[in-house]
Amino acid sequence: MTSTPSVLVIEDESGLREGLAAAVETLGYRAVGAAGLAEARRALREGAPDCILLDIRLKDGSGLDFLNELRKGPERDVPVIVATAYGDGERTIRAMRDGAFDYVTKPFDLPALLATVERAVKQRNLARSIAPTASAPRADGGLVGTSAAMHSIWKLIGRAAASTSPVLITGETGVGKDLVARAIHDYSPRSREPFVAVNLAALPPTLLESELFGHERGAFTGASARRSGRFESAAAGTLLLDEIGDLDPSLQTKLLRVLQDGSFERVGGNEQLVASARVVTATSKPVRPGDAGCVLREDLYYRLAVIEIHVPPLRARRSDIPLLVSHALAGTPARAVSEEAMDRLLAYEWPGNVRELIHVVERAAVLCGGEVIDVPNLPESLRAARAARGGAEPGEAEQVPLRDAIAELERRMVAAALDRAKGNRSEAARQLGIARPQLYAKMEEYGLATRGDSGSPSGDKG
Ligand SMILES: Nc1ncnc2c1ncn2[C@@H]1O[C@H](COP(=O)(O)OP(=O)(O)OP(=O)(O)O)[C@@H](O)[C@H]1O
Ligand SMILES: [Mg+2]
Repeated sequence: MTSTPSVLVIEDESGLREGLAAAVETLGYRAVGAAGLAEARRALREGAPDCILLDIRLKDGSGLDFLNELRKGPERDVPVIVATAYGDGERTIRAMRDGAFDYVTKPFDLPALLATVERAVKQRNLARSIAPTASAPRADGGLVGTSAAMHSIWKLIGRAAASTSPVLITGETGVGKDLVARAIHDYSPRSREPFVAVNLAALPPTLLESELFGHERGAFTGASARRSGRFESAAAGTLLLDEIGDLDPSLQTKLLRVLQDGSFERVGGNEQLVASARVVTATSKPVRPGDAGCVLREDLYYRLAVIEIHVPPLRARRSDIPLLVSHALAGTPARAVSEEAMDRLLAYEWPGNVRELIHVVERAAVLCGGEVIDVPNLPESLRAARAARGGAEPGEAEQVPLRDAIAELERRMVAAALDRAKGNRSEAARQLGIARPQLYAKMEEYGLATRGDSGSPSGDKG
């Protein structure tokens, strides 16, 4: 086929729809606009486009339902790019799980959006079909956030939920790795099967082996009856092996064998049992080959990290803080955080990440004895947080993965430019050599935007 590629733009806001159509035409493609699902269905009857740009929230129906409808119909191979609102995690996960090609967030970054459209049209030529999933979607991944980093995580959760490959989740303590593992299970077709978690660091190797694989009667002293292990109880569900970075070398070999063969034996037995659980692992330790202090064998790492989800530390995605704070306030007597206290919360380094934030907020809510948390209700380390900000210990940078370090550097540069420009955003953007909309996106991402309203975060918790 050599005809001009066409893109169907489904957007009920007319100005936006026309703007998008015009932008798509600059790529040399034909753009067809549809002001809602009814019009989109009519347009599809005229012929399948090469790419669909779909707003998730439309006046005449849900874009997600429409996506599912498309996936079951003759247009199932047409790549669909969904537009979601910032902070709309649930819809992003579901859209990616249900086979969306990619998502873009509003307000649009036009060059990025056009690059995605181009990629989608190219992919269309490969005509790869994506199998629809038939599971009952769960309401919520439980992961709150509005940062670009959190969006990438939702996207990966959606992708992982649609696959059966092993997933490795990395990130510092308290960043939400357990929640990610749980969300992968909940959004997967296995959601009605068991979800079983084992902490590999909690038991000595001999006990752990029988914990994982079970044992036969008489396998060792005290084994008075046959016992099934976690691989067996996870059945066709999901098995989370937590703290994989601490796994004893002898068990690493055994686990590798299970993953390779898809079968295992109970300790002291020789019956071959099928390992049908989907394996998800998590760790806060270094596990990449070559990482200092890594004890995980290289071949096992590659088996486990078919899909790798890195959850960045909270200090590298500070724009998530206000929403996490209001999430933590729910169920406490307090209702809000003073502007000054929020400044401290935004400035603090959060070595314990989200877990620490939840503890701090819950404790402060009790201490404040009223409705508003203020600076004196915060622990000493936080009260001093403003001074600590900006003074990086040079050695520290070596400990953090490159992408976190880059995000942190970018945040500091943006904050410094805004300070130098005394809040004048055009001037700050000029100093940074970026366009104003880009600056706004960065300010949003790093929680540097409109400090005035940070005390009453009102996110879309959908
Ligand atoms: N994005 C998030 N939204 C809401 N709650 C979160 C988020 N991330 C983490 N939490 C909460 O923070 C706490 C710590 O999360 P979790 O146990 O998943 O961390 P972890 O990365 O597994 O930590 P560890 O390495 O110590 O096991 C939990 O109470 C979890 O519910
Ligand atoms: Mg954990």
